[in-house]
Order: sequence, then structure tokens, then C-alpha cells
Amino acid sequence: MQTGVATGATSGDTAAPANTQTAQRIGVPREIFPGEKRVATVPEVVEKLIKLGFSVAVESGAGDAADLSDDAYRAAGATVVEGAAALWSASDIVFKVRAPTPDEVVAMHEGQTLVSFIWPAQNPDLMQQLAAKKVTVLAIDALPRTLSRAQKMDALTSQAGVAGYRAVIEAANAFGRFFNGQITAAGKVQPAKVFIAGAGVAGLAAIGTAAGLGAIVRANDTRAEVADQVKSLGGEFVKVEYEEEGGGGGGYAKVMSEGFQQAQREMYAKQAKEVDIIITTALIPGKPAPKLITAEMVKSMKPGSVIVDMAAEQGGNCELTVPGQSVVKHGVTIVGYTDLVSRLSRQSSTLYSTNLFRLTEELCKTKDGIVNVNMEDDAIRGLTVTKDGAITWPAPAPKVAAAPAAAAKPAAMPVAKKGHGHGAPSEPMAGNKLAIMFGVSAALFWFVGANAPQAFLAHFTVFVLACFVGYMVVWNVKPALHTPLMSVTNAISSIIAIGALVQIAPPLVVGAAGRPDDWIRWLAAAGIVLTSINMFGGFAVTQRMLAMFRK
Ligand code: NAI
Repeated sequence: MQTGVATGATSGDTAAPANTQTAQRIGVPREIFPGEKRVATVPEVVEKLIKLGFSVAVESGAGDAADLSDDAYRAAGATVVEGAAALWSASDIVFKVRAPTPDEVVAMHEGQTLVSFIWPAQNPDLMQQLAAKKVTVLAIDALPRTLSRAQKMDALTSQAGVAGYRAVIEAANAFGRFFNGQITAAGKVQPAKVFIAGAGVAGLAAIGTAAGLGAIVRANDTRAEVADQVKSLGGEFVKVEYEEEGGGGGGYAKVMSEGFQQAQREMYAKQAKEVDIIITTALIPGKPAPKLITAEMVKSMKPGSVIVDMAAEQGGNCELTVPGQSVVKHGVTIVGYTDLVSRLSRQSSTLYSTNLFRLTEELCKTKDGIVNVNMEDDAIRGLTVTKDGAITWPAPAPKVAAAPAAAAKPAAMPVAKKGHGHGAPSEPMAGNKLAIMFGVSAALFWFVGANAPQAFLAHFTVFVLACFVGYMVVWNVKPALHTPLMSVTNAISSIIAIGALVQIAPPLVVGAAGRPDDWIRWLAAAGIVLTSINMFGGFAVTQRMLAMFRK
């Protein structure tokens, strides 16, 4: 297990990386970026990494700002190392949160692997330095997020979710009233009105949190497809009265036309006058944040209102935002904190380190403590921005399409896709294959129609129609809702019970055909028992599924 590298006071030790045949050591340094309180690995994940065959070293004090003590790491099985130099030199793989500083790059050694946020497009110099060091770097921000398999490793999502939650907490802290409406002996309190601009990951988390606190929540996004998600989290989607598709590919937005922007400004101006809190999260990758809230809109807000501008780091969605600060302008508090994730450092560290653990599982399928950066794997290829000294960024587009992206373009999908698994990409069915299938089915129906007895044909017609209606109903429902749908249709399909009851009951008309044989009645009784399980079980499962969406 151990690599043989020194632990404890190993400052200055420039031990070579471990032999690739022995288990590797994962090192977790203390983050040195000002105000960064997260740590890349938490003790509970240390235990899991050790089970995968790795040894883990943590720099002393790495978890302090996230309330994770050195002792907690020791108890989990990690070695606590004094000083960054010792940690970097003793590690085969380094897990970090923030992109390495020039000093940290100097501390790296050839053959080492780094997993961290890098932002390669914004940091070309850093990329050159890393390549010159002949290290392999996996940029967690370069993960192909549209691959459904990659979701468990998606640190951008996990961190934006934390930030969206915290944005609402910051808003509540700066706001002088309750979020929820109340009727008290002292009078009636109106619920706060919250408007969320941009319903990406952070925006959706903010909608859920604000609605959970009892506020009236409205939201807008240029991508119309998020309207359902806004509603499902308890918000109301406010549309811009201007027809324009807002998707820019890969689930991200695009810069909108001047006409759209004008119409959007009018709608936002109206909302600014009405609401108490605005949380802005609008972002277009690689572009400065769109300016959505003008100084005029801020002036028009009620005194005591709050704006939380989550896009402050990218220039801000509000004209009056001061990045990193909370300021009061025209009686409105404008929060421009850029460290919302660090303000919940333990939570964000736990989620981030789980993302890295899931990535490690992908890198070490053999569970022997040795990573394999497999460039044939779409997810790993996307993440790998330098490999053994070569810059491998940007990666070619993944071969496998995303489940959500596929769902977003139904017009492009042929009918035949519906025969495949949930969201799995499928090849268009060739026209001649479809024609052959149609011909065979028609011949089969003709054969049955020409030869089967009359009574059978009536039942068979109903059966075929039921199959068709069932197919059309089920396959037009989103895959995520299949389980509740199937459970409730299970319950309803138990109409079979009626047939069994008819068989078991005495004849209604005296002199009508005699009672069925005993064995048919016993069969009907068994049918009733089984179908009752199906019926009540179906409703029970449906209730449990629906309860998951209720508070
Ligand atoms: P995202 O890219 O998933 O979401 C941004 C959303 O804004 C998208 O739904 C997009 O369609 C929408 N949008 C773009 N232009 C728009 C426009 N003109 N009008 C309305 N909507 C528009 O990004 P994510 O992950 O949800 O993050 C949101 C923002 O929060 C980003 O700016 C990100 O940098 C920031 N953030 C800030 C943190 C902090 O500490 N302040 C921490 C984490 C994220």
C-alpha cells in the first residue's frame, strides 16, 4: 500500500513518485487562495479512497477552515504532513480545489497527476507551465457535463447548488422581513416576493430554497425549457414577450438579439418595482455576465430590498454590483460576494470530495490504488487537459450524446428511438427496416383475421388498441416519471379484478347459463388475491414516489 515516501516532517524531500506497480499516494494540500475555505477531501472520503487501494496524505491544517481537524483525518486513516512542500513531493496524485498558484506549480514533479479546478480557457499561461512540468492534469471544470455518466463527478453542479442556497440565506440576512406570509395577533405579514434571473443550477437551487422559506418566487431564463423545472420547485416562470430560442448548445445560453434584450429589460423593470429580492445568476460561458439589472431598476425598487448578484465574479448582472462586497445603493442592499461556496465550506467540501471520489473510481476500476487515465473514455478524455507534458485541451466532443440534450431535441429523433432504454441514444431506424416490419405485421394481422374464431377477434381488436393507446401514453411521458406512471397504471390495470369477480359471483339471472366450474372459480379467487397486491401495491408505490416531491 505505502509508496515508501517519507511522511511527517519531510520538508524538502524530493522523493521520486512511487513505482507505478505499487499503490499510489493521494495528497491533499491546504488551499492558499485568499478566502478559500474548502478542502478537496473530507475524512469520510479518505476512508473510501483507502478502500480503493490508495494511501492518503493531508497537509496539516488543510481542513481547519471547513471544521475538519487533523485528528479527524488521522482517525480516517490519512497521514498528516507538515508543510506544503513535503505534501506535494510525497504525493503521486494531488487533489485540490483552486487552480495551482505559480509556487504550487514549482512544487510539482514530473509524472504527477493533479485533479483540480483549472479553467484552461482563462489560464493559458498556467496550462503552459503545467505542460512544461510534464504532469497530467484533470480539470474538473472541463468535465463533459452532458454525459449522463458524468453527473456524479460534476463539481460545477454540486458547487453551484451550494452557492444558490447560500445566495438566498445572504438575501434573508440582509432583508428586514420574513420570507413567509403570517397571520399573527400583531397583524398580517405579506410573504416576500423573490425574482430569480437565470434558472441554471444555482438559480434552481435558489428557487427551491426561497420557496421552501415561504416566499413567492418568480424566475426567468432565456432557455424556455427550464420553465417546467422552475414550476416543479415551487416557482412561477415569467416569460419575456419575444419569440427567440435561447439555447446555445450543451445546455448553456447564448447572447440574445437586441430585440429580445429590450423586451427582457422591460419585463425586468416591471419585476424590479414589484419584488423585494432579486437573485441574479445569468451567465453565458466564455462571455462577460449579461447586464440585466440597470441602475434605474435598482432605483425603482422598494427601500430595504435586496439584490444578490451571483455573477459578480464575471462582471455582475447588476450595473451597481461591487464584486466581493455588500453595498447599499439607493436604499437597496446589493450583495456581490464571490465566495458563496466557501461560506458553506464543510458542505461544499463534502460534495466536492464526493465528486472527486467518483472520478477516482472511474480512474481506478481495478481498485488497486493505481490510476489509469484512459483517453478512450469520453468523460476522462474531456477532463484531461495535459497528459505527460502535452496539452490535450480542448477535448473533441464526446461520442455519446447526453440524455437531457437528446430530450431537448425531440424533432430530430425518429419514432424508432422509443423502443430503447431511458434516454439512451439510439440510431435512427432505417426506412426499409421500418417498411419490412410494417409488412410483416400486416401479414400477421391478415393471417389472424382470416383464421381466428369470431369471439377471439373481438378480444384481439381490443387488445391491439389497448397496446397502441398504452404505447402512445407511456412513451410521451418523460423517462423520470415512468416509475410513478407505471405504478399507477399497475393499480388501474387491476381492472382484471372485475373479470375475476364476475367468474366467482353467482349468475344474476335465474335460469342463465350455469355457474362456472370449481376450478375456474378457484382460479378467479387466486386472480383477485394477486391483483389486489398489484392494485394496492401500485397505489402505495405511487404515494411514496409523490411523497419524495412533497415537503
Ligand atoms: P449556468 O450556466 O448553469 O446557469 C446560468 C443560467 O443563466 C442559465 O440557465 C442561462 O440560460 C441563464 N442565462 C444566461 N443569460 C441569460 C439572460 N440574458 N437572461 C436570463 N437568463 C440567462 O450557471 P450556474 O452553474 O447555475 O451558475 C450561475 C452563476 O452563479 C454563474 O455566474 C456562476 O459563476 C455563479 N456562481 C457564483 C458563485 C459565487 O460564489 N458568487 C459560486 C458558484 C456559481
